[in-house]
Amino acid sequence: MLGKALLWASTNPLLAERLPQYAFVRRATRRFLAGETLDEALDEASRLAGASLTGTTTLLGEDLAGEEEADGVLEHYLGALKSIDERDLDVEISVKLTQLGLDFDTDRTQERIERLAAASARPLWIDMEGSGHVDATLDVYKSVLAKHPGTGLCLQSYLYRTTDDLEALLPLDPSIRLVKGAYNEPVDVAYAKKGEVDQSFVRLTGMLMRARAEGGEGRPVIGTHDPRMVGEANRLAYELSLKKGRYEFAMLYGIDRAQQGRLARGGHAVRVLLSYGSSWFPWYMRRLAERPANVLFVLKQLVR
Ligand code: FDA
Repeated sequence: MLGKALLWASTNPLLAERLPQYAFVRRATRRFLAGETLDEALDEASRLAGASLTGTTTLLGEDLAGEEEADGVLEHYLGALKSIDERDLDVEISVKLTQLGLDFDTDRTQERIERLAAASARPLWIDMEGSGHVDATLDVYKSVLAKHPGTGLCLQSYLYRTTDDLEALLPLDPSIRLVKGAYNEPVDVAYAKKGEVDQSFVRLTGMLMRARAEGGEGRPVIGTHDPRMVGEANRLAYELSLKKGRYEFAMLYGIDRAQQGRLARGGHAVRVLLSYGSSWFPWYMRRLAERPANVLFVLKQLVR
């Protein structure tokens, strides 16, 4: 119930405008937000590197007002790629196609993402958004991948369609970041029960791991904090004789830091997704909805 309310709040423009204006609300976000600027996020990435954790950065923001904003996002990311190179950090970037204009013009979105992929010395990642964007995202991804092998895509285990989508992608040798899915989806497109989402996650992990064990170049990236999913991935890797480093884990900044450190110390490849920017409200509400216990944490910060 609380989770649904938070997901509703994540789409409310009035709340998104008002709440971030309060200093106490901003204070409560610090645990999961790497910063409001790229520099702050890269400072955190640099700190994490000291603990053998690599990074992925992403600029927060959704629902663009027009094409010019998409051009602005492209310029921002081109600058971000330069800063990452200058600071010599093992940091990749992950982008939302709607931030590059997907709701306005698919061809121009394609051009922008290709400019980014061409400018990036490291693999570029594409986030997966709400179910209404999946077809267009897959189309754009396949075209970018054809020109820039190594480009990665996020897939969500809560969608019924993902097994078929992954089967269709595997012959193209894709790098896939598998996650459970963070949007409020109807039951006609997504599993509603956690048990079913988890079962799908394990099945998809198996497909990715097998493709890698059979010689695939695409990186299987297991994006979860769920210790059961992490355990299943390690079990599958053992069965398939897939060595540490041939598959990766990805987790969100600030969430279960103990597990992140434990896996990295155990020799696993762990990438931390650092989100930054001033438009953090909808994203932050989705993080709270994932784990209502976080609301308690936020309330404690507010009364301090
Ligand atoms: P689940 O939600 O089942 O939680 C399992 C356990 O993990 C919890 O019991 C708790 O211990 C811990 N946990 C999970 N979330 C927590 C939180 N917010 N705070 C504290 N503890 C928490 N989604 C999407 O739709 N598109 C995308 O592109 C991405 N990209 C992405 C990248 C990366 C690197 C990650 C890790 C996640 C995403 N996501 C995403 C979000 C993803 O879909 C999902 O909502 C979250 O990862 C939470 O799901 P878990 O697999 O962690 O498990």
